Amino acid sequence: MKEEKKLVRVIGGESVSPPPIWLMRQAGRYLPEYRALRAKAGSFWAMCMNPQMACEITLQPIGRFGFDAAIIFSDILVVPAALGVKVQFEENVGPVLPPISDIAGLETDQGKWAATLAPVYETLKLTRAKLDSHTALIGFAGAPWTLATYMAQGRGSPDQRAAKLWFYRDLEGFTQLLELLGDCVAHHLARQIEAGADVVQIFDSWASGLPERMFEACVIAPTKRVVQKLRAIHPNARIIGFPRAATLDGYERYARETGVDAISLDTSVPMRWASEKLNVAIQGNLDPIALLAGGNALKQAVDDILQATRGKPFIFNLGHGVLQETPPEHVAELITRVRAS
Ligand code: CP3
Repeated sequence: MKEEKKLVRVIGGESVSPPPIWLMRQAGRYLPEYRALRAKAGSFWAMCMNPQMACEITLQPIGRFGFDAAIIFSDILVVPAALGVKVQFEENVGPVLPPISDIAGLETDQGKWAATLAPVYETLKLTRAKLDSHTALIGFAGAPWTLATYMAQGRGSPDQRAAKLWFYRDLEGFTQLLELLGDCVAHHLARQIEAGADVVQIFDSWASGLPERMFEACVIAPTKRVVQKLRAIHPNARIIGFPRAATLDGYERYARETGVDAISLDTSVPMRWASEKLNVAIQGNLDPIALLAGGNALKQAVDDILQATRGKPFIFNLGHGVLQETPPEHVAELITRVRAS
């Protein structure tokens, strides 16, 4: 049977016009219906771990806007949680976890991982059952490097200092952490595909600012290893990688070497360059602030991207997540413009 989901066709290398569209953080605080549920639920983490609620939130932007894909409502930090780390979310701070400096004590039992992560798979099953056959379902995980930055620092860090120091001082120990994370990430992505995900995305949000050797050891090699492990279980897994704000050379290497099917690009990447130079499908890269601005600036930014990617396997998205202050009407305008192209 011919695959009907546009997102899946593009990831398979087809150019589809108009391109499929979804947005990172398409569910979240810019939507009043999300804020209403959040007020009832109390905490973000409680919502992630409640399959009925997570399913409802996943579907909110689909019901409102009709995106071509739903991304499961969850968080990248469920993987550290599966390794036994206590993850908390503090208002106006973000994630907070006890910083670690060695891997002793981290959970290595796959059965235990699966038990902690079971609500995510349940959410995928519930969501798949409610989505129509044209809308793709996206599962995701954080990449080992980005997860390691949170685990080493105990929170988000502007310069990834703790993880970098660990790498420089104890390469062997840090490599063990990346490998354990990679094992858990591959496991988590495989289970998400089994629970109904058509596509999975690997978020490497902190892939920028790394010396070449570290980019190779912490971003390229661990991602390649995750892709290989996942494909050993699911040979046809469809994988989008997002090494956010890697250099142009970094994006090119990532596209060539990791084995992903598609690459998500940040706002700074010239899409004409990406269309010509990258050997995989591309996704991106509208400036979230252009979406916040709306009006003619938004139209122009959208048209620039559409023009630069014409004829290429391309998925319309942002360069990073939807900002909290974004008026939902701007999202509706964006979709109308893309679909009219
Ligand atoms: O994209 C989606 O709509 C799916 C859901 C999703 C969330 N987080 C929900 C969320 C996805 C794919 C993520 C990934 C994620 N989580 C990343 C990678 C992508 C990126 O943004 O770079 C990272 C680094 C995290 C860790 C994380 N979670 C941070 C740093 C924060 C705090 C920042 C913030 O915006 O408050 C979160 C919280 C978070 N994850 C929220 C949502 C909707 C906000 C929760 C709330 O306060 O209601």
